[in-house]
Amino acid sequence: MPEWQWKDPSHGALLRYEPGNWGDILKGEWLCLWLEWFGRDLVYQDPFCGQAHYPVTQPTRLRVQGSPARRYATHMGSSSATLVQEHAARLGYRVQAHCSDRESPLSLRPCDLLLFDPYDFFERWPEWNDLLLEASRHHDVVVYLYNKSPRGASQFRQYQALRQRWQGRPLLLGRVAADAVLPRAWHEVWLVGPGASQPKLRTALQQATLELHRHLSDQGAWEG
Ligand SMILES: C[S@@+](CC[C@H](N)C(=O)[O-])C[C@H]1O[C@@H](n2cnc3c(N)ncnc32)[C@H](O)[C@@H]1O
Repeated sequence: MPEWQWKDPSHGALLRYEPGNWGDILKGEWLCLWLEWFGRDLVYQDPFCGQAHYPVTQPTRLRVQGSPARRYATHMGSSSATLVQEHAARLGYRVQAHCSDRESPLSLRPCDLLLFDPYDFFERWPEWNDLLLEASRHHDVVVYLYNKSPRGASQFRQYQALRQRWQGRPLLLGRVAADAVLPRAWHEVWLVGPGASQPKLRTALQQATLELHRHLSDQGAWEG
């Protein structure tokens, strides 16, 4: 049985999640792929950026190194904002980054890419969803969602209500289990906005997501 353990309490005791979890891996891979597709200097906004670097535990290091997410692996321990700046620099592009945390009220500015990754969009989407619907008319938004639907019917209805609001809008969605043997939630990453209609980007995100999903689900599907 793959070894499951709760995050090391000596690391990131103030964080509500383990940095380098499967959601971070998926989100980081998507951000790198978006940058490669965009292919030029950019303006980036990250209103819930957290700290620039996170401690990486040994189980996380092994999880990331064993995963097919080669891009994310080179930025392990970096926040998304740091990853975006590192990956863009590697590609030869400049980033004008607007990063903040604990903003209230939230103010969005024109940018090429907005990362929307607060605590906890699944519970609090009614506060923010109209803002995102508006922002994504004009530019690309990557949204992270910890989708608690596996926990029961009421959570699933909550999720369906959110999805209903996005019907008819260009939306690409990647979804992987939170854990191979204890899948208490889905990690979801969305791309909404003009880029979601671009076939090359769509193919790249789809391939990376399915590869990660297969890697993760294989671990839970078979023992012996
Ligand atoms: C999931 S973490 C962000 C991780 C970061 N986006 C990354 O990928 O590296 C969520 C962040 O939202 C911030 N935050 C600030 N104000 C918030 C609010 N009003 N509601 C929810 N989260 C808030 C927290 O301080 C925290 O840094």
